[in-house]
Amino acid sequence: MQDVIVRAETPGDVKAIDVVNLSAFEGEAEARLVDAVRNSPDFIRDLSLVAEINGRIVGHLLLSKVILENENGSQEILALGPMSVVPSQSHRGIGSALIQAAIGRARDMRYSAIVVAGQPEYYQRFDFKPASDWGIVSNLPLPEDALTAMELKPGALSGGGRVIYPAPFAEIF
Ligand SMILES: CC(C)(COP(=O)(O)OP(=O)(O)OC[C@H]1O[C@@H](n2cnc3c(N)ncnc32)[C@H](O)[C@@H]1OP(=O)(O)O)[C@@H](O)C(=O)NCCC(=O)NCCS
Repeated sequence: MQDVIVRAETPGDVKAIDVVNLSAFEGEAEARLVDAVRNSPDFIRDLSLVAEINGRIVGHLLLSKVILENENGSQEILALGPMSVVPSQSHRGIGSALIQAAIGRARDMRYSAIVVAGQPEYYQRFDFKPASDWGIVSNLPLPEDALTAMELKPGALSGGGRVIYPAPFAEIF
């Protein structure tokens, strides 16, 4: 694989990230979602990651804040997605590099857990497990097995509960 640099997005990357999302997904919904999250309090610049090859952005992954609520109260955890790699560079491990970097950074920043809505077959290879294993559901209209999760702190998800995605996420499901 060519040298891939994974780093946090900077304000100058916004257009390039848009192009990556428009090329990887059919339609504009995911690109719009990334913009909506970027302009919301749920955005964490250090966890909006780009993959760069030879100075060109070829992939993007967003981790943002969501709330997990259950009978014990509510806690802030992270939602992974959308993520995208330009089609001409897919199947080369760039998506995997983005996910590994995202998990490492989230752990370093002391977040307790990550959830992902959709594409469970892809994310399970990175040790995401069905959220239903912890009795976790979400406010998105997803098939039960489409929500996966990972604990970064042991026991963080043991209370189960409901993940509350902010409104812009509802538009892509
Ligand atoms: C999903 C995506 C980010 C993967 O990026 P990537 O750089 O190709 O990922 P990697 O090279 O690390 O891994 C590729 C592997 O993932 C698998 N894969 C890709 N998409 C998958 C999916 N939807 N379900 C299951 N497996 C999938 C492929 O089989 C591939 O395995 P192979 O290379 O052995 O054939 C990229 O294909 C993409 O942008 N897809 C369109 C947007 C999308 O669906 N994003 C994810 C949901 S938000």
